[in-house]
Amino acid sequence: MEYEVITERKEETKELGKRLAPLFERGDVVLLKGDLGAGKTTFTGGVAEGLSIDEKVISPTFNIMKCYFKGRIPLYHIDAYRLENQNIEIGLDEYIEGDGVCLIEWPMYIEKLIPDDYLEITINNLGGDKRRLAFEAHGDRFDALIAKLKEAK
Ligand SMILES: Nc1ncnc2c1ncn2[C@@H]1O[C@H](COP(=O)(O)OP(=O)(O)O)[C@@H](O)[C@H]1O
Ligand SMILES: [Mg+2]
Repeated sequence: MEYEVITERKEETKELGKRLAPLFERGDVVLLKGDLGAGKTTFTGGVAEGLSIDEKVISPTFNIMKCYFKGRIPLYHIDAYRLENQNIEIGLDEYIEGDGVCLIEWPMYIEKLIPDDYLEITINNLGGDKRRLAFEAHGDRFDALIAKLKEAK
């Protein structure tokens, strides 16, 4: 299952994250792909809002991971950019398919930790404030989730 959405402003990207949030369950893994400035962290902010997390989501780049516990389910936001395939054992595996939903920026840098089933979201900058968000399901659970996202428009 695939799904594509074009957004014209960052608020629309957040709104999409917010729409997706109610569909997440504990253990879900979401890979966020796209260049720097594509909108991965912005999208995560929308998911946080949809989980009723009132804390502002900031880029975890310098922390590798930020945890938000005050919403419907925990949100784990990983940014693997600075790990760059160094294979450092810092216990991230505990949070991937853990007790919350886990969103991962630069997942290719922690490839070995990525499970078989996940939702993949690729964000492309189409110039200016325009972005294309492509959703791709890996596994039945995420097929169903994308189908619901389409309905929830
Ligand atoms: N349609 C859009 N969707 C998301 N972000 C947008 C959009 N248009 C402009 N932006 C801007 O692009 C930047 C995205 O930054 P960020 O979410 O931190 O990207 P990433 O985490 O992918 O590096 C922000 O400055 C945001 O305001
Ligand atoms: Mg980011």
